[in-house]
Amino acid sequence: MRESSGTGLILGIESSCDETAAAVVRSGATALSNVVASQMSLHANYGGVVPELASREHLRNIVPVVREAMRRAGVTFAELDAVAVTEGPGLAGALLVGITYAKALSFGLDKPLISVNHLEGHIHAVLMEARERSEAPMELPLLALVVSGGHTHLYLARHDLAKQQGSNSTWTYRNVGRTVDDAAGEAYDKVAKLLGLGYPGGPWIDALAPHGNPRAVPFTFGEIKHRAPREGVTNKKAPLNTEGPHFDFSFSGIKTAVLRYVETHHLRASIAVRRDALAADPSITPKNAAHLCDQQTLDLIASFQYAVVGNLQRQTFAAAEALGAHSIVVSGGVAANTELRRRFQAEADRRGLPIAFPSLALSTDNAAMIAAAAWPKFVAHDFASEDLGATPQLRLGQK
Ligand code: KG4
Ligand code: ZN
Repeated sequence: MRESSGTGLILGIESSCDETAAAVVRSGATALSNVVASQMSLHANYGGVVPELASREHLRNIVPVVREAMRRAGVTFAELDAVAVTEGPGLAGALLVGITYAKALSFGLDKPLISVNHLEGHIHAVLMEARERSEAPMELPLLALVVSGGHTHLYLARHDLAKQQGSNSTWTYRNVGRTVDDAAGEAYDKVAKLLGLGYPGGPWIDALAPHGNPRAVPFTFGEIKHRAPREGVTNKKAPLNTEGPHFDFSFSGIKTAVLRYVETHHLRASIAVRRDALAADPSITPKNAAHLCDQQTLDLIASFQYAVVGNLQRQTFAAAEALGAHSIVVSGGVAANTELRRRFQAEADRRGLPIAFPSLALSTDNAAMIAAAAWPKFVAHDFASEDLGATPQLRLGQK
């Protein structure tokens, strides 16, 4: 393998869902470029990500996006030390576009290839930005809530210095909670769609909730029960890690409760009017859409968000306390939520726990987080093999 330039330059590539992204990051700390080609407007017509369309768009975007990331970073391919790519979890066809391209690039350049778990990437987005601001490292073990359209997971993360020179990654993750059904972002998207709002739903509900009364509709969350798996059958709903306490989530119930509210309060007609108004006027954005909602709908939106954020907050802080976490990281698309940030920050302050969120740009999917998560693997010489494939159900900390 060709000598690296030794400047710690890693090109990250991300294509797990509906964003084609590439970024160059130096030593896991400084993003020299971060380019994201979003397919959001394409999928908005369908109210969700269409896998076949996503793969086709990734194919169309991958070369210009990588070139643009290199151009903005002012770096040549020869100067790179490694190429990092998302291995999973995500859509198989979408992941394959990034992986195939990264493999070809690493082979052609004779540079190491590093595979990264998308969820690990979300956590490292926060750690990278803390390094960028030259802040003291987050105290370990840290509890990471990764909350997005596809995931709601809690991980207890440690940095194991003893493994630094070994073949394994230096970071270790223990899954201590996850959703047993819908992800929190999925609930945002489905409720927004049900109420005739735009896609993705998170930013719409985020912007409209302050206009409503969060206590108008008292949504509740029940206790989550796990069925014991039958012998020889893997129970998808069972906790991933059976050791120790577990802090799971469930968001399908609240989605059904919102649907029931819509039915019993006869909101269907006003929803249809709103959907048509939005379709007819592309200048309406989440920030100027309040006039399209009556007070009852605004109260429903505010109550939904209050309940979801409250549930995320209770589980996360209960886990932090029970597991002795010394700091908290919240990442993923839903971490962009205004109310979530405010309430998590207030609770962390009350408990004297350091907490960190990514910048809004790095909350949603991007490739800087992939290049950042690849850095400790690069240092540990934890490289991917030439036959790396896509792993749509890849788990973190379960290898
Ligand atoms: O991390 P991400 O870009 O993609 C996945 O890996 O899923 O997250 C996208 C999710 C969507 O469900 C979107 O509705 C949600 O993040 N989201 C938000 C906000 N911005 C994006 N949810 C709540 N409030 C927001 N401001
Ligand atoms: Zn994501």
